[in-house]
Amino acid sequence: MRLKLVVGNWKMHGGIEQNQCLLDLVVEGTRALKGVSCVVCTPYPYLSQTQSLLGNTHILWGAQNVSQYDKEGAYTGEVSAKMLIDFLCHYVIVGHSERRIMYGEDSLTVALKFRAVQRVGLIPILCVGETLEQREAGITEQILAEQLDAVIELMGVDALAKSVLAYEPVWAIGTGKTATPQQAQGAHIFIRNRVLAHNDKIAAELKILYGGSVKANNATELFTMPDIDGGLIGGSSLIANEFIAICHAAQN
Ligand code: 13P
Repeated sequence: MRLKLVVGNWKMHGGIEQNQCLLDLVVEGTRALKGVSCVVCTPYPYLSQTQSLLGNTHILWGAQNVSQYDKEGAYTGEVSAKMLIDFLCHYVIVGHSERRIMYGEDSLTVALKFRAVQRVGLIPILCVGETLEQREAGITEQILAEQLDAVIELMGVDALAKSVLAYEPVWAIGTGKTATPQQAQGAHIFIRNRVLAHNDKIAAELKILYGGSVKANNATELFTMPDIDGGLIGGSSLIANEFIAICHAAQN
């Protein structure tokens, strides 16, 4: 059985005081949860603060991006996976559509980032998802396959055993337009079957999160779908009560 996982992606939000307040509330509000892992991915400058606030709690933390380069060097503005280890991160998001679209990360770059994360023993959360134009053109599965296959080709399917996938349709991110549970389930089963074609055990154990306008009032119907193993939460992860309620929805 796959345990549920709920990950908050704070994106470029936060501040020393508000982080403390939000994290204290989230720790308190999720204390009684059973069978659900909660994670927050905070901006780089706050990883040290995140570590000190969450270090002795049940909540894990991670980063939202990483350099594809393993070796330190002249990469102005970049952060290596090895540096993230210093803050006891557990997870790193790679291939978020905002990175793919706004920062021009192609699927090979994302695969290299995935590799950099795993090389230091951290867990990549690989995001895949189609734009509205791609969905309307009927090429959703082709896009998901291309994004997933880039990692399988570089790393081999076994690498997926120590990773998490996130299906995030671009048209549902930050728009308030959630994929229906059936649309999400359809994409998740496609992804799982694609992995299953290589290795059935890895496919069966692979956690696939859904992301895109998940809120307290739609989380339950999404999380009860058989191939949705939790959520990658943007806006709602910045509101303590919403995030806590979403974590609780994953428990049912
Ligand atoms: P929203 O929950 O704000 O739609 O963002 C989803 C997301 O991009 C999480 O990575």
